[in-house]
Amino acid sequence: MELTHALKQIQPSYIREILKDAQSEGVISLAGGLPDGQHFPVKLMASSLASLAQRPDLFQYGQTAGYGPLLDYFRTQFQLPEHHDSLVCTGSQQALDLIARAYVNPNDKVVMEAPSYLGALQVFGLAQANILSVSQQADGPNLAELEACFAEQAPKLFYAVPDFHNPTGVTWSVPVRQKVAQLCQQYQVTLVEDVPYRELRFSGELLPLVSSFCPEHALVLRSFSKIATPGMRIGVVSGKANWIAPLVKVKQSADLHSSIPMQAVLLDLLTHDEFPAHLATLRALYQERYTSLAEQLQAKLPQGCHSNPVEGGMFIWLTLPPCDDFALAKQALTHKVAVVPSSVFYKQGEKVTPALRLNFTNATSEELVIAVDRLVEVIKQECGIA
Ligand SMILES: Cc1ncc(COP(=O)(O)O)c(C=O)c1O
Repeated sequence: MELTHALKQIQPSYIREILKDAQSEGVISLAGGLPDGQHFPVKLMASSLASLAQRPDLFQYGQTAGYGPLLDYFRTQFQLPEHHDSLVCTGSQQALDLIARAYVNPNDKVVMEAPSYLGALQVFGLAQANILSVSQQADGPNLAELEACFAEQAPKLFYAVPDFHNPTGVTWSVPVRQKVAQLCQQYQVTLVEDVPYRELRFSGELLPLVSSFCPEHALVLRSFSKIATPGMRIGVVSGKANWIAPLVKVKQSADLHSSIPMQAVLLDLLTHDEFPAHLATLRALYQERYTSLAEQLQAKLPQGCHSNPVEGGMFIWLTLPPCDDFALAKQALTHKVAVVPSSVFYKQGEKVTPALRLNFTNATSEELVIAVDRLVEVIKQECGIA
């Protein structure tokens, strides 16, 4: 059967394709965006999971918007105004898909930073959006480019990951947040603020959400994949009630609702006395691994390679001297280290800076040391450095 034109244009996900190789014996993977499976809060969920057998009501069809007590919790936690709502989604990835289906017609303009989250490139690509790129700097998007883009192109959406960006780890400064919010208001562009890594800050100060400066012009996507477990598949989108209602309608046709038993377990977890301690442990663990990776890179990388420090999240972005980073990543796999080349984070045909995304949350500090040794050898080979 012939595929749709939209799907034919979508590149398969490099990360999903190499996942099998990345998981094979002896390979150290810095490729995926995986949280550490040894630290899933399963003990904190144990009694909640066991109690499900006594709660058959949770196994009936439920409301599309989500499990009522969880929605009430979100309203309080996120301090939502009366005229804002939340919709529980099957991962924040589904929220992106619902937004695209509800609001993006073919050729509608959607602005993204370059590089950008691959899953968002895929969603907006499938929706046949006209993706406009704005370059990213150390403290967020290039504001002059962004304003010119808003003024000249009148885009509908600006998709952004302001906290510990995937793939670059960049966090927007407060002045950048304020300016972007002001531009969204001035040019009537809806900000889609995607913050799955926000709770994984291990140094520096918590910064206000960009949407806190333009709440009437934003949809906020939160995820529980990185702080609870990705397998629960729970995320949530919040914003003005009249913007959430169409998403509920699309979700009805997509999957009726997300798993109610899992939402009940998530609520028990988020309100568990020991959940803050779990978060603190996770942050300390990821900080230790980040420090280990950053120090190894600093000590061992050849000239011409560069990475900026990060204050949280899961990734370091390593820029390389001129080379074919795709070939380099393939070569790294034969040396038993998996990494992701920069080209997969750009829309097709765009000018790409040779770089690698390195994940530091899924390998131990000891493995990270070995991974850097292997990687340095490959970089020297592929970039022709003696
Ligand atoms: C920026 C970004 N947004 C969304 C997602 C999807 O997360 P979820 O597991 O909640 O669907 C990811 C996953 O890695 C991500 O990096």
